[in-house]
Amino acid sequence: MKPKKIKDRVLWMGAVDWNRRLFDSLIPLPDGTSYNAYLVRGSDKTALLDSVDPTMETIFMTQLADVPKIDYVVSHHAEQDHSGAIPAVLKKYPAAKLVCSPKAKDLLVDHLHLSAERIQPVGDGETISLGDRTLTFIHTPWVHWPETMVTYLREDKILFTCDFFGSHLATSKVYAGEEASVGEAAKRYYAEIMMPFRKTIQSNLKKIEGLDFELIAPSHGPIYDKPKGILDCYRDWVSDRVSNLVVIPYISMHGSTETMVNYLVAALAERGIQVQKFELSTTDIGKLAMALVDAATIVIGTPTVHVGPHPSVFSATHLANALRPKLKYAAIIGSYGWGTKAVEQISGLIPNLKVEVLGTVLCKGLPREADFAALDDLSEKIREKHTQL
Ligand code: FEO
Repeated sequence: MKPKKIKDRVLWMGAVDWNRRLFDSLIPLPDGTSYNAYLVRGSDKTALLDSVDPTMETIFMTQLADVPKIDYVVSHHAEQDHSGAIPAVLKKYPAAKLVCSPKAKDLLVDHLHLSAERIQPVGDGETISLGDRTLTFIHTPWVHWPETMVTYLREDKILFTCDFFGSHLATSKVYAGEEASVGEAAKRYYAEIMMPFRKTIQSNLKKIEGLDFELIAPSHGPIYDKPKGILDCYRDWVSDRVSNLVVIPYISMHGSTETMVNYLVAALAERGIQVQKFELSTTDIGKLAMALVDAATIVIGTPTVHVGPHPSVFSATHLANALRPKLKYAAIIGSYGWGTKAVEQISGLIPNLKVEVLGTVLCKGLPREADFAALDDLSEKIREKHTQL
C-alpha cells in the first residue's frame, strides 16, 4: 500500500503481510499481520518511527523514495519485524541518528550489526524537537522485550506504541473503529505475546494514563481511533480477575482420555461452569492462549507415552507455563496402559503457574465407574472453588 496521511504532518508507512501464517516459527497468524512505520515531519526536522520486517524492505524503501531527508530514525523495539529495514534506511540517510532506549542500543548492534556511533539513546521522558512537533519517549519495558519504549506526539495527540496494543491483522483499513475482528486479533496478540509480562504491563498502563492522546498507533494492525476500547480490554486482561472458565487441553490415543474429558466437560457444564476444550493434535495454540487469558482453572488431559505425558501435552503444558496466565486452579486427568509418571512430569513443567492443584484422576485402560465418580468429585471441587471467585 502507499503511505497514508494520518494527520497533516504524520504519514502511515509500512507493509501489510497478508500471507504470513507463522511468527517466530511458533505463533499462528490466521489473519496475517502488518508492520507499521510512521513518518513525522516537523517544521525543522523529520523522524521515522520504526521500519518493517526485512522481507518487506523493498516495499518500504519504495515508500521512502520521495522522502528527501530523515533526521531521526526511532526504534521502539529491536526485534527484526520492526528494526529489520533500519540498516537500509540508515544507509539511504547517512546523516540520520538512530534513537532508541539505552537497553536497545546493544540489541540493535548485536541483531543488526549497526554502528554504535549512529545510535542516540534517550532517557525515560526525554524529548526531541522537530520544530513545531515534539517527540516524547516513554520507556515501557517488556512490551515485548526489555528495551521497548513508546513515543508520544503531543501536538497531534498520538501515542506510537509498536508491539504494545498491537494486533496481528492484515487489513487495508488504517483505523480499527469498533470492529470486532480487531478486538479478537488484539486479544490473540496479547495472549501470545504480552501475557507473560502482565505485571509489568500494569505499570506501563499507569505510565501512559496521564497522557492526552486521541490515537494509539501500534506497529502491528490498525490504528485505534477510539482508544478507550483497547485500553479497557488491556486493563481487564492484566487485572487479577479470572472467569468461571475451565480450559482443558488434551489429547487421546485410543479414546480413554477423550472419554474422561467428555465426561468432565458434561459434569462441569451441569454445574454451571463454562468449559473450553482443545484437542491438541488439531488445535490452534493461539486459541488456547486466548482462553488462558482469564480462565480460572486448567485441566490437562493426557494418555501416558513411555511413562510420561504425550509429547503434544508436554509441549502445550510448557507453553502454558511460559505464558504465565493468571490461573488459580489445576488438575490432571488421563489414562495409562501399565504404569505412569505423567502427573509427576507435568507437575514439574508448571513452576510458573501459581495454582492450587485440585486433584488428579488417572485410570488404567478404559475408565470405569470409579473413575467417573472421581471426575464427578473433581468437578464438584472446581464448582466450590469457582463459587468463591
Ligand atoms: Fe512485533 Fe516483538 O515484535
